[in-house]
Amino acid sequence: MTTPAATDLFAKARGHERLDQLAAAREHDLLPYFRLLEGEAGPVVAMEGRERIMLGSNNYLGLTRDPRVKRAAADALEHYGTALTGSRLLNGTVPLHSELEREIAEWMGTDDALVFTTGYQANVGCLSTLLEPGDTVICDSGDHASILDGVAMSRARVRPFRHNRLDKLETMLERASGDGGGVLCVVDGVFSMEGDVCDVARVAELCRAQGARLMVDEAHGVGVLGERGAGACEAFGVEDEVDLRMGTFSKSIASCGGFIAGPADVIDFLRVQARAFLFTAAAVPAAIGAALEALRICRSDEGGELRARLLDNARYLHRGLSELGFDVVEPTPGPDGEPLLTPIVPVVVGDDWQAVLLWKALYDAGVYTNVALYPAVPRGGALLRTSVMATHEPEHLDRALAVFEQAREDSGSGS
Ligand SMILES: Cc1ncc(COP(=O)(O)O)c(C=O)c1O
Repeated sequence: MTTPAATDLFAKARGHERLDQLAAAREHDLLPYFRLLEGEAGPVVAMEGRERIMLGSNNYLGLTRDPRVKRAAADALEHYGTALTGSRLLNGTVPLHSELEREIAEWMGTDDALVFTTGYQANVGCLSTLLEPGDTVICDSGDHASILDGVAMSRARVRPFRHNRLDKLETMLERASGDGGGVLCVVDGVFSMEGDVCDVARVAELCRAQGARLMVDEAHGVGVLGERGAGACEAFGVEDEVDLRMGTFSKSIASCGGFIAGPADVIDFLRVQARAFLFTAAAVPAAIGAALEALRICRSDEGGELRARLLDNARYLHRGLSELGFDVVEPTPGPDGEPLLTPIVPVVVGDDWQAVLLWKALYDAGVYTNVALYPAVPRGGALLRTSVMATHEPEHLDRALAVFEQAREDSGSGS
């Protein structure tokens, strides 16, 4: 006879604090998540039976609908089939991977680059492999979950610092220098929820002063910031001072996948040691074909035009929402002291339910936004994360602003 376990493993699922909220939200059709997209991810989308202006995507350059990108995906599908059914190491590497890695390294100005199946795996694979017990890693508290997960897997000592508080980072770097192991600082170039930009130039200076290595997650920076669209490190002019740069294809690059770019020896080490790279299947060929073509567009003159249009749209939406009295997160100053815009234009609401109610009013009136609640943002810091695309026309943004204005009037408050 078997002895029952003292605790039912499923008890935590049944007693979870969010279950009541989830049930109430479902009952009143207020759940802002898992809404069904019924067509292409354009500036206006078909969603649950009607057209809605899409202010909730990471398709910043709008390339997921570009005929050249779609053709490249279709060609890769036709040439290599639906899937590679194996890891990059054994039977999942095709010439498209090599071309993509070479072009990413050229774009980032690094020796080499390694393509992972997702951006999440790029962070987890890199951090859990490079760091080990005895090392110290210093993270911004706003770093993406994939960074925190990779760090946790490594069992290195973690010294976190409060979001964007570089004075605290300096203290942590000083402390870490006495820890006795290797030291790595990891920051997001652009923080995904608030859209604020890290002063990577100052971070690089602080790391250099203490002999620490620096890794920057450019998931929301690539395609968006810098003359070449190479991200925050380019915008701040410190590409050569950053040891490792991570990026994803799941935003501006119109596909799915991720990369780590850096020195040849470190990239080779990851190529043969990173478990999140070795023990998972390579991305489907269509994803790699699409990423390669989108990357080429992003690096061309046309990419520069798309970036300019994208940031004009961000400026327009930011100004419009501020004028309506919404509490919009201000852009961070760039290297020249001028605001450094990103496509992310977040509206701070504060209370979780107020944020959900505002989301629903906008949704019902034909505007889709993302709701960020704790733990994606600090407690009491609920926000609607709106984001623009290069392919939004002024008319789309004007329509969205009119809907925001109506929602504000109906609720009788500024946010
Ligand atoms: C800052 C940041 N890093 C990493 C990731 C993970 O990338 P992916 O979604 O491509 O796996 C994301 C995506 O949400 C992100 O926002």
